[in-house]
Amino acid sequence: MKVLAGKTALITGASSGIGKALAFRMAEEGMDLVIAARSEERLNQVADSIRETGQKVLPVVADVTKIKDLENLVSSAIKEFKQISVLVNNAGVESYAHFTEVEMDDLVNTIQTNLTASVVLCRLMIPHMVTCGEGHIVNMASTAGKYGPAYGPAYSASKAGLITLSQSLRAEFRDQGISASSICPGFTHDGGMYENLKNLTGRETPFQIGSTTTKAVCNAVIKSIKKDLPEIIVNNPPMRPVFALAGLFPTLGDWIISNSTKRYFKKVASSRKKPEA
Ligand SMILES: NC(=O)c1ccc[n+]([C@@H]2O[C@H](COP(=O)([O-])OP(=O)(O)OC[C@H]3O[C@@H](n4cnc5c(N)ncnc54)[C@H](OP(=O)(O)O)[C@@H]3O)[C@@H](O)[C@H]2O)c1
Repeated sequence: MKVLAGKTALITGASSGIGKALAFRMAEEGMDLVIAARSEERLNQVADSIRETGQKVLPVVADVTKIKDLENLVSSAIKEFKQISVLVNNAGVESYAHFTEVEMDDLVNTIQTNLTASVVLCRLMIPHMVTCGEGHIVNMASTAGKYGPAYGPAYSASKAGLITLSQSLRAEFRDQGISASSICPGFTHDGGMYENLKNLTGRETPFQIGSTTTKAVCNAVIKSIKKDLPEIIVNNPPMRPVFALAGLFPTLGDWIISNSTKRYFKKVASSRKKPEA
């Protein structure tokens, strides 16, 4: 989809972090927006600020783990704007911790929020996109979905699922004008969920993990739609060579990635450890 001006995007998780930054970035491109999240107040603040740019915006309070909320989100969006051309599955939660200490509810919520909700939203949106003959889906994955680090199995599994979701949808729907991309950011050091990890550990990520910015992630989303790219990894230093190495030489890649990342994620997990009773 080369031109975004005049089109409408639906972004989940737009009340803070990357989703909020992306809503403003897409408004700059001349797009109208449907923005969704649970917190009504923060969502309305984002909507009010975007309206000042001259773009139309519909805020919809939705818990993406509830199928009824997702159905209502899609039907409200189509009712208001008639055509939704872009869906960004961005809502997400992280659950880095010692795996055997993660509460079952948190495990299930991680998969439901990050993965199940995205699959369901694609299923709800694609028939509309096929009818319109146009659509692009962006799934906000993570570098953790390219190779799972220690202490984040549910998060990594959900993000790996998003990457294959995009691949599978591209393969099935591109000849009908619908495509999909995965964005795989590293930690954003200027807002978003990494702030919680920084507060927990009192540390920035080490060099070998690196980081990025919400601006770079937003630019990658726009580029992925305009150039119809399957996947963009957004991180500094670049991670694709490491992941490619791990693809070619799994044992060596596993050794390098787990050894260079484990210490940091152990620190995150230990900061969350419950005090002994
Ligand atoms: N920032 C990073 O370092 C980083 C790196 C890699 C990937 N990512 C991915 O980028 C995406 C955005 O993360 P972020 O860093 O911007 O985090 P964030 O600031 O915590 O934002 C998460 C967004 O998801 C929404 N959300 C969470 N649970 C929801 C639910 N059940 N229903 C509806 N909305 C829900 C939140 O809104 P409410 O709480 O108002 O519902 C919020 O708007 C996530 O998918 C994350 O995994 C982030």
